[in-house]
Amino acid sequence: MDDLFKNVVSHSKEYGYVFQSSEIYDGLSAVYDFGPYGVELKNNLRMYWWKSMVQLRPDIVGIDSAIFMHPTIWKASGHIDAFNDPLIDNKDSKKRYRADVLIEERIASYEQKIEKEVEKAAKRFGDSFDSALFVQTNPRVVEWADKKQALHQRFATALEQSDLDGLRNIILEEEIACPVSGTRNWTEVRQFNLMFGTKLGSVAEDSLDLYLRPETAQGIFVNFLNVQKTARMRIPFGIAQTGKAFRNEIVARQFIFRMREFEQMEMQYFVRPGSEMEWYEHWKEARMRWHRSLGLGDANYRFHDHEKLAHYANAACDIEFKFPFGFKELEGIHSRTDFDLSQHQKFSGKKLQFFDPELNENYVPYVVETSVGLDRLFLAVLSAAYREETLEDGSQRVLLKIPAPLAPVKAAVLPLIKKDGLPEKALEVFRELSVDWSVQYDDKDAVGRRYRRQDAIGTPFCITVDHQTLQDGTVTLRDRDTMEQIRLHQSELLDNLRERCHFSTWLKAI
Ligand code: GAP
Repeated sequence: MDDLFKNVVSHSKEYGYVFQSSEIYDGLSAVYDFGPYGVELKNNLRMYWWKSMVQLRPDIVGIDSAIFMHPTIWKASGHIDAFNDPLIDNKDSKKRYRADVLIEERIASYEQKIEKEVEKAAKRFGDSFDSALFVQTNPRVVEWADKKQALHQRFATALEQSDLDGLRNIILEEEIACPVSGTRNWTEVRQFNLMFGTKLGSVAEDSLDLYLRPETAQGIFVNFLNVQKTARMRIPFGIAQTGKAFRNEIVARQFIFRMREFEQMEMQYFVRPGSEMEWYEHWKEARMRWHRSLGLGDANYRFHDHEKLAHYANAACDIEFKFPFGFKELEGIHSRTDFDLSQHQKFSGKKLQFFDPELNENYVPYVVETSVGLDRLFLAVLSAAYREETLEDGSQRVLLKIPAPLAPVKAAVLPLIKKDGLPEKALEVFRELSVDWSVQYDDKDAVGRRYRRQDAIGTPFCITVDHQTLQDGTVTLRDRDTMEQIRLHQSELLDNLRERCHFSTWLKAI
């Protein structure tokens, strides 16, 4: 899995998906730029989310709020006082870690040990293997499972009580060592606020201290009444937006999984007080269905209920994805009660209520939120799509099996050779298709090498224009995954691409 992750990271760079920010100045840690193919994949993911979460739903509308917001918003939302991570330093390596992440990794290591033991036994015993019985009875597995359970319990209690000494004691007693120095020479655990500060105004004395938003959600809350009134929405209804968020992450590793500047796609669903649990369940299921519709494999997803609820929530869970480094959070679903609207009402002195004509009363709505990181979704797609294959002739090919509706380039138009009028004919095909689809024209190198390059980019179809095309208008259409080629008339290409590349099949299924 380590190798897979390394390969995904280097492939992303080599094929124009993701670059380190400011690379020629030795880079900026945990900040990334998206290249020619990366930006297309990101746009496609955002478009699919927007289509299904906003345009397909009569009860949800979208907004695009500013990144700069009045600083009191962050006091009201609780981010100034409570948006902290517990950090710990290793005195020898001088490296900084999140205390909770060190412990979570230890818990995951027990899980991995158990999984490995089960895999080994399954190979040994073959068809007669009963994994449930094995897990209950194998002494080694039982010991690890008990250790994991006890650690989990202690960790949850320490988090619940914001017990920083308790977290440190766990790290010491579990003998967790710094991966860089290998020592267990740890500092105390301290709280660290994740918001980036900046200033608004040209004269130092008059400037206003601002924060870069750490979530897009607050832009939705403070616009609640503007949107409800202008779009004439009635509860229950939702407001959605996509946009950048910023967090000064302590541990920013794992490529684009944890970044300091990233993009969120959030939706706040406003409901009657008392109905929030019903809606919470509704959105859990709806969002899981959405993720599965991407075709990355149902077994790669699971729910994870939160042990420690954020200061605003009365229920919360994550949809986790099996990244190359294990199951990790992809999306959060939170029942945020009336916390945010009530706080903004209190701090702004403006009423943020809804008059419910059916109940004939005013109330502050409750909120169920769905919040997914676009960059994490991007990483999920790339990790699931990356393949190395050995072909029948013994040669190797690397390909990205990105589902066609998400692929950055839907088809490459290739003249078989660069003469005899084939480039002109291929350019004609390219121009016709590029009105509707993202397509590429390529006439460099031998056609076999061009196929390989398109495989590596993840282009699902290659259209080759040859001498026969000049005579009867037919072209070959090559499938990335099967490498099979069919011959069809140039006039059939648009219908073919629409059928295979349009989001409509997915949208109808969810
Ligand atoms: N408004 C709620 C909220 O922000 P969150 O669980 O902190 O909740 C939601 O974040 C999602 O944003 C996460 O599930 C993750 O996909 C993404 N995300 C959070 N921090 C991130 C980071 N540092 N880098 C990339 N994505 C991040």
